[in-house]
Amino acid sequence: MCGIFGYCSYLKEKSRKEVLEVLCQGLARQDYRGYDSAGLGADGDKPGEVFFFKEVGKVAGLRKQIASSSMDMKKTFISQVSIAHTRWATHGVPSIANCHPLRSDPTAEFCVVHNGIVTNGAALRLVLQKRGFTFESETDTEAVAKVLKYVYDSHPDRKTVTFTDLIKTVLKELEGSFAFVFKSSHFPNEVVAARRGSPLLIGVKTDKKLKVDFVDVEFAGQDSEDVKADTLQPTSPSALFASPSANPKVLRTQSRAFMSEDGLPQPTEFFVASDAAAIVEHTKRVLYLEDDDIAHIAEGELHIHRLRRKDDRNQSPAQLASTRTIETLEIEIAAIMKGKFAHFMQKEIYEQPDSVVNTMRGRVNFDTNQITLGGLRAYLPIMRRGRRIVFIACGTSYHSCIATRAIFEELTEIPVSVELASDFLDRKTPIFRDDVCVFLSQSGETADTILALRYCLERGALCVGVVNTVGSTISRETHCGVHINAGPEIGVASTKAYTSQYIALLMMALQLSEDRISLTERRNQIIAGLHAMPAQIQKVLEMDSMIQQLAQSVADYKSLLLMGRGFQFATCLEGALKIKEISYMHSEGILAGELKHGPLALVDENMPVIIVMTQDSLYPKVQSAFAQITARKARPIVLCNEGDEGIPANAKTIRVPKTVDCLQGMLNIIPLQLLSYHLAVNKGYDVDFPRNLAKSVTTE
Ligand code: F6R
Repeated sequence: MCGIFGYCSYLKEKSRKEVLEVLCQGLARQDYRGYDSAGLGADGDKPGEVFFFKEVGKVAGLRKQIASSSMDMKKTFISQVSIAHTRWATHGVPSIANCHPLRSDPTAEFCVVHNGIVTNGAALRLVLQKRGFTFESETDTEAVAKVLKYVYDSHPDRKTVTFTDLIKTVLKELEGSFAFVFKSSHFPNEVVAARRGSPLLIGVKTDKKLKVDFVDVEFAGQDSEDVKADTLQPTSPSALFASPSANPKVLRTQSRAFMSEDGLPQPTEFFVASDAAAIVEHTKRVLYLEDDDIAHIAEGELHIHRLRRKDDRNQSPAQLASTRTIETLEIEIAAIMKGKFAHFMQKEIYEQPDSVVNTMRGRVNFDTNQITLGGLRAYLPIMRRGRRIVFIACGTSYHSCIATRAIFEELTEIPVSVELASDFLDRKTPIFRDDVCVFLSQSGETADTILALRYCLERGALCVGVVNTVGSTISRETHCGVHINAGPEIGVASTKAYTSQYIALLMMALQLSEDRISLTERRNQIIAGLHAMPAQIQKVLEMDSMIQQLAQSVADYKSLLLMGRGFQFATCLEGALKIKEISYMHSEGILAGELKHGPLALVDENMPVIIVMTQDSLYPKVQSAFAQITARKARPIVLCNEGDEGIPANAKTIRVPKTVDCLQGMLNIIPLQLLSYHLAVNKGYDVDFPRNLAKSVTTE
């Protein structure tokens, strides 16, 4: 949902060409977050001047535009700041006009890139229009740039006001979610970045050793009588416009952060981004911003300020912490490259024999059959005492919860409910202090899941995160959790995260049930199944060319149904999601037991059906579903176990190795991932960038 990128370099001579390349590369690493348009704003030839490049579509188009520009690419800058954006459209169609950066006025006194939605953007626009402002775009973001100019123009003392003070005043007016990076001709060589609800991190690259490795945070208004917490709540736009200079003064909080050990100015580069993937090739030292943090970068220094809010008491420990630690990224650049594969999705499907090992590494002891999830250890007694466990997630992550719910209940004997994060909030689901809420998210940044998490935190439940992205909002705001360690997942369609989430939840259930003697045999059987899993996944991957042919045979149909039951219902839901999202073919996952309650009406000789019939206790029931559909002339493709002789000889089959019933879904999903991949490739679709979608859904 939009990728933002800022690049600041100080005392380091850079040509315009180099600067633009850093920006384009920063965007290219994030274009899975949105690829409706790409744009950038950088220093012009004259001091304070800003120029823009904007293009509809992916970053490649922006690069072409830059290559054909007549600007002086050799011009050098000793210090410079620039901002860039790749867009997933929310307000307004994908167009040059709506492409970020958005500016306050034709001379671009202020410009901004934004990820998120300012929900009172329309109200702000109206007030600004009444004040004579005219808009160039349909975006909520442009209103933010214009409010900033308005606040600046009406400020009684423009000589002393700081960029940060202006931004603080503007942020108080905004509702919704955002990550912003601002640039201004009034404050050359400075940027301000801020977040509330959307991810943002800052990479720091310097040749010298840093004297401090943390940033002190003071709370704006903490010791000022002028500033009451209430006044820092969003006000109605009219209050600001009625009397801008009467706005509460916001304390200037200074925290010297990055200085060399000798205290002398040093060449430094800062990279602000939505995702670590855009930073890792420059530096591994990063600082994750928390909600309501405001980062000011100027003259080679980074200062963090904080906007105190009335509801601070509801904020997570990470948000309230008075330090921000510089962390070291653990991802390697190779992990975010396609390597020998044609697409990231293909690479990620093929990585699964390794990614599942990484999820289990150091956690499953195959000699002693013990599971140790370090991040949960201290919370196990509370989890075991919980009256129920609630899994909360969206999309593929939700499917991994459906896939493991039954085994979780079987092993822990605690009732488990599975909730779609968006529906959970719509329903205002009752949550209590003795509930254990588990939040599943590959990105750790899905807005609906984060909002559900905050809702549960407020109600006092124990909140557990299961995420892939280290440092993400969900991993920071939950009380405890498990990183699935699948490695960066870049293809928009989630694949390896699913199998790793599956294993993470299984490990959680196994650990919670470690003292249940009566379950020892079942647990040992599952752990042995986990041991064999990587090799079995490898074996399924070897069926790739057969699946490619199968894809050709179903490619011309409009729709494809997937049926199964028990553990395999989740496989059908997830397989159908993969097929529809990247091949744009309608596909539905159907619980075989529900067939006769409606879906059977869809079945005839022209409807391709995949029926998941691997051997578990529900096999006889799936056999009767098979009989029902073949009686309606369907010629199903049967996803079954190797060596199963109960399948009619004339049926088309996809045969996978057999494993323990509750693990079988991990093997069964792989042919379906491959099928969706080949369907999309056959049709010539952009596998890694399916239309209208983005990898990380940071808006509600
Ligand atoms: C589908 C897919 C999405 C995500 C969903 C949740 O392939 O990727 O359905 O699973 O948007 O995302 P996370 O797991 O990042 O919270």
